[in-house]
Amino acid sequence: MAEKRSPAELKESIKAWLKLRFNFRPIEKHIIYHRVAKHPWYYGDGATLLVLLITLLVTGMFMALTYSPSPETAYESVRQITSGNLMGSFVRGLHYWSAGIVVVVLIYHMFRHIILGGYLPPREGTWLVGVVIFFLMITTSLIGYTLRWDERSVYALGIALNIFYKIPWIGEEIVYFVQGGVDLGRATLSRLYAVHVLFVPFALFAAVGYHIYLVLTYGATTPLEKEYAPATADQQIELRDREKNDPKMGQPFFPGMISKSGTVAFVVFLFVAWLAYTQGPQELYPEANLTEISFPQEEWWFHWYSALAAYLPPAISDTFHWVFPIVVFLVLVLLPFVDRGDNRGAQRRPIAVITTLSLVVALLALTGLRLKSSWTAWPQTELPPLPKGEQVNGNVERGRHLFTKFGCFNCHSVGGQGYSFAPNLSGLDRRYSQDELKNFVSQPPEGVAMPAYKSRLTAEELDDIVAFVLVIQTFPKEY
Ligand code: HEC
Repeated sequence: MAEKRSPAELKESIKAWLKLRFNFRPIEKHIIYHRVAKHPWYYGDGATLLVLLITLLVTGMFMALTYSPSPETAYESVRQITSGNLMGSFVRGLHYWSAGIVVVVLIYHMFRHIILGGYLPPREGTWLVGVVIFFLMITTSLIGYTLRWDERSVYALGIALNIFYKIPWIGEEIVYFVQGGVDLGRATLSRLYAVHVLFVPFALFAAVGYHIYLVLTYGATTPLEKEYAPATADQQIELRDREKNDPKMGQPFFPGMISKSGTVAFVVFLFVAWLAYTQGPQELYPEANLTEISFPQEEWWFHWYSALAAYLPPAISDTFHWVFPIVVFLVLVLLPFVDRGDNRGAQRRPIAVITTLSLVVALLALTGLRLKSSWTAWPQTELPPLPKGEQVNGNVERGRHLFTKFGCFNCHSVGGQGYSFAPNLSGLDRRYSQDELKNFVSQPPEGVAMPAYKSRLTAEELDDIVAFVLVIQTFPKEY
């Protein structure tokens, strides 16, 4: 008969049993108690990304219980998730805000490593896997937006396909491939959904797992590295081993590191949850019907790109949109091979600091521009055309310029030319008087998807624009 054991002994023996049967020892040795160099709190972005990614996976899994990926049902199912499901608005909100904040933190993570020289030997591999993760995240972020299948998201999909179409030689094939056929519809949504919930998450799972494995092996940039600028991978490894095993400079991963990074991650998560709770998810626009077009509007974390697009010279804009991601990818991939300096840490890498800070300023400034002028995205830069032989002068001609400058031509076509999110303003069925036009432009009637211009135009500018519209409404509808 076995001896009677005290509760403490029993606990120990259960622990020992579990440890052996589930083989926890390597996990303890290589993860939980492995020694690392001490890190400042702003290294907590990695843990934050992991927490946000898990949030995205879990909320996504719950939404997949309701979401129905077909053009007839997708929109309704998102509506059901948002207002019909228990805590659905919060779950969708968490997914939405995590998706946005994860892009912000990813950019921070990347910039931080550019500043510190995080991709220097032996961490080139860690960096390259990170670049793959970055592109997977951006791709799936864009796809997630289309799954709502409201008019805005389908319109944006149209824009994306249009961009693919402009790629030389293979553009048309890419469009067919993404659409899953000759037009945008059922097959398109099925594939976007499959990519969003199966292909990308599995690829991410593998890539993030590998990235973390490499981080556990090679660690993060340490204080000694910054001081001694190791030139080779071997020197770095030697330095790091010395540092992490030093009683003062090193510590075990648990609890020291986990508590620091974990706190940062937790605070960011609370912030995301607060946003989800107070702001809710992105509102749904009217359902897409594949015939009408809507005004293109990207999510806030891509505002900067939209502003960039708005300010590009029209001559290069078609090419820019597909060349830009390729260039960014190549720059990121080549960075560890081009930047061969030994110096690590912000203090010794002034070029990296200046470049990164300039990029941050540019991103913020572009985002600001986009927010200030919510209709400048994807603008027309040309002047609205006049019928052959017609000429306009003075204030009407000035109005014609302002018509482009203030974005009227982004939405309205004139003479059947230009974008047509809003009515063609020549050959109007119902002619407006000067006063009616003034009122309309200053404060469009409720329910009209046109921005109010009352605080944006001076009295003279309003006069000029209205003078122009007054004239073009008498021109033929098409010319
Ligand atoms: C964001 C897109 C957008 C912009 C920018 C915009 N509009 Fe509009 N506009 C609309 C929409 C949408 C309507 C209403 C369509 C409807 O419901 O009949 C409209 C209606 C009008 C109408 C009445 C047309 C009719 O058929 O009754 C006039 C006139 C007009 N806009 C002038 C302007 C002028 C001038 C500017 C620039 C100062 C401008 N719009 C900028 C979207 C826009």
